Parts: sequence; structure tokens; C-alpha cells
Amino acid sequence: MQPLVVDLGDRAYPIHVGSDLIGRSDLYAPHLAGLQVLVVTDATVADLHLDRVRRALGNREVASVVLAGGEADKTLDAVSRIVDVLVERRFNRSAAVVALGGGVVGDVAGFAAAVYQRGIRYIQVPTTLLAQVDSSVGGKTGVNHPRGKNLVGAFHQPVCVIADTGALATLSERELRAGLAEVIKYGVLWDAEFFDWIEANLDGLLARDEGLLARSVRRSCEIKAEVVSQDEREAGVRARLNLGHTFGHAIEAGMEYGHWLHGEAVAAGTCMAADLAARMNWISAADADRVQGLIRRAGLPDRGPAALSPDDFLRLMARDKKAVDGGIRLVLPRAIGDTVLTGDFDPRALAGTLEACRADIEPPFFD
Ligand SMILES: NC(=O)c1ccc[n+]([C@@H]2O[C@H](COP(=O)([O-])OP(=O)(O)OC[C@H]3O[C@@H](n4cnc5c(N)ncnc54)[C@H](O)[C@@H]3O)[C@@H](O)[C@H]2O)c1
Repeated sequence: MQPLVVDLGDRAYPIHVGSDLIGRSDLYAPHLAGLQVLVVTDATVADLHLDRVRRALGNREVASVVLAGGEADKTLDAVSRIVDVLVERRFNRSAAVVALGGGVVGDVAGFAAAVYQRGIRYIQVPTTLLAQVDSSVGGKTGVNHPRGKNLVGAFHQPVCVIADTGALATLSERELRAGLAEVIKYGVLWDAEFFDWIEANLDGLLARDEGLLARSVRRSCEIKAEVVSQDEREAGVRARLNLGHTFGHAIEAGMEYGHWLHGEAVAAGTCMAADLAARMNWISAADADRVQGLIRRAGLPDRGPAALSPDDFLRLMARDKKAVDGGIRLVLPRAIGDTVLTGDFDPRALAGTLEACRADIEPPFFD
């Protein structure tokens, strides 16, 4: 199948989506300028796929860094470990990094590639649904600060994305559902027909029908590629991709990173955004119900945690990168398939949402 393309002129890059791609040397070779390659992965993914990637890289000089795995790895310490290996192995500016794993590996390895010798190339090989549909595309790299999510980072585009949908077979149920949160997000923020399609095919997606998963990855990547091609640095339309994220990042940071998965927090955040939009009559109550109903059917949370008070939310949301001079800005739906970034919302309606959309719930959110 033809790859999708993120059209960024001389930095355009392909996104390959399909089965059995991880071990295909022909997908890596055109994007490697030199013979030195550092594969960054985590312990779980290393066991599953590192050998295949090493074989695909042939007789190049291949080193690897294996992180423990999970959100706790998204630190400057992890970046330092990667840079230490690049320095110790005397990797030069034509070396490449391969980010093999979920969004954590991709964000950390991409950031190390962005800063090592002011930037070397990297290939994204996403192995979670969340990373395949979202984090591997678009060039946002970085790590968390104890006081806020993704506060340290850089824009650095990969030279290629290899999304092997066969890898999704081994994902835990919880990680699969967290990835579906981002898929549903695309339907709400950009494409009403895709939202209908997800509603109709959710059972098959949950049953891991590979054809359906591949279609959801492909359509999500098409949307992300289109948006990023228009607005690489998030001066405008790209902000719409952050639907649910201002609420979601507050949940992730407020509950200690890793307790709620990123996708779970985005799911709750998307429901909170829909609730707020419905309170202001921007969308109908029926559309808000549809969004929340689909998220519930996917076994994802439709509320934030009661452990965070409305004041906690407001304090944490003011730290969001989209805030301007301390004023919160939110991405809110105007219809299913249409969203806007705005600071112009009714603060009383936001207070109502923060009061109503909290519940005494704990992950995992499905039976
Ligand atoms: N850069 C961006 O544009 C962007 C966009 C969305 C999310 N993100 C970031 O992505 C991160 C979340 O990514 P994630 O959900 O992939 O988390 P993750 O990288 O922590 O992976 C989740 C878990 O799945 C395991 N795993 C990975 N692939 C597997 C496989 N094929 N089979 C079995 N287990 C596997 C990992 O070992 C890990 O334990 C967050 O830090 C979030 O902020 C970044």
C-alpha cells in the first residue's frame, strides 16, 4: 500500500501503515544516511521486536538503549542516558536514532535526536495504537517536568514512520483502549464521518480485527498529516488536535504521571470538553451524549477523578502550554467533526463542568 506523506517540503516524510513492516529493511534503508544507528526502546518492546529491527538494520553499527517503560521514563535523565551512549559510541551527525515503542519511547528518543549535535535524524517505529495514530507523527518530542506535562521539548520531525499494525496484537487491553481514545478524538475534532465509522466498528476494533485497526490508524494518520502539513508549529489549526488535552494533562499531572494513562485522561478530557460545549449550547446535549456514550462503550472514563477538586483542575489547567498570561484556553467542539481553540468560554459553565464531571473512579475503567 502507498505510504501517506506528511508534506513539509524538503522535510516531507512517509508514514507506512500495514502488517509485518517492522522487519522490512527496505523501509529503513532509504532514510539512513550513515552506518551508525541507535535503537531506543523499552523492556517490553525489546523482548518482542528488538531482534527483528536489528536484523532489518543489517551490518550497520547498531547500539541500543532499553528504558524501563512507561510515563515515568519521560524525563531529562532518560534523555541523558541516550545522549551518553551516542557520545560514548562516537556517533556522528549522520547517525540515526530508531524509536521503537510507544509514545514515551518516541517522545524521549525523538527529543534526544533533536538535541544531539543540534539534531540528527530519527525513524519512528510506533508499537502502541496511541503512538501509531498520534505521537509518532508530527515531530513533537519532549519530556515531562514534575510540575507539568511535556514542558521540555522540541519540534523535530522524523524522517520516516513505520506503523506495523501486527504489533498491536500483544498490547494490553488497557493500552488498546487508551489508543482508541485518540482515534475517537480525531472523529470528534475533524471528521464526523469517521466518528460514525468508529461508532459502527467499535466492537471489531476492540476485538483487534487487524483490518479495522489498520483503517483506523490510516485515517487518523491522514488527518494528523493534513493538519501538521498546514501548521507544523501549532500557530493555528494544529491546536485543534489537543481536544481533551487541557483537562487531560491536568488529570495526568494531578494524579501523578502514569496512574491514569495519557489516552484515559484524554478520553475524560474529551467528555469534559463536550459537556462544557453543551452547557454553552455550542453543541446539542444529544451530540455530547454521543461522544460520551462512545467513550464509555470503549471502556474509557467519561469523567475526571473526584480526587481533583475544581480548584485543582483550574490550577493545573493554567499551566497548560496553550494558556496565555495565565488565562486558560480550551479546544471545544462546535459540532461532532468541528472544534475551535478559544479562551472565550463562560467561566461559570466551566465551573459547572468541573463540578459535574468528576467521579470516584479508578483505572482500569472496564470489566
Ligand atoms: N508527541 C506527540 O505528539 C504525542 C501525542 C500523543 C501522546 N504523546 C505521548 O505519548 C505517551 C503515551 O504513549 P503510549 O500510550 O504509547 O505509552 P507507552 O510508550 O508508555 O507505552 C505503553 C505501554 O505499552 C507497552 N508496549 C508498547 N508496545 C507494545 C506492544 N506492541 N505490545 C505490548 N506492549 C507494548 C510499553 O512497554 C508500555 O508499557 C504520553 O507520554 C503522551 O504524552 C505524545
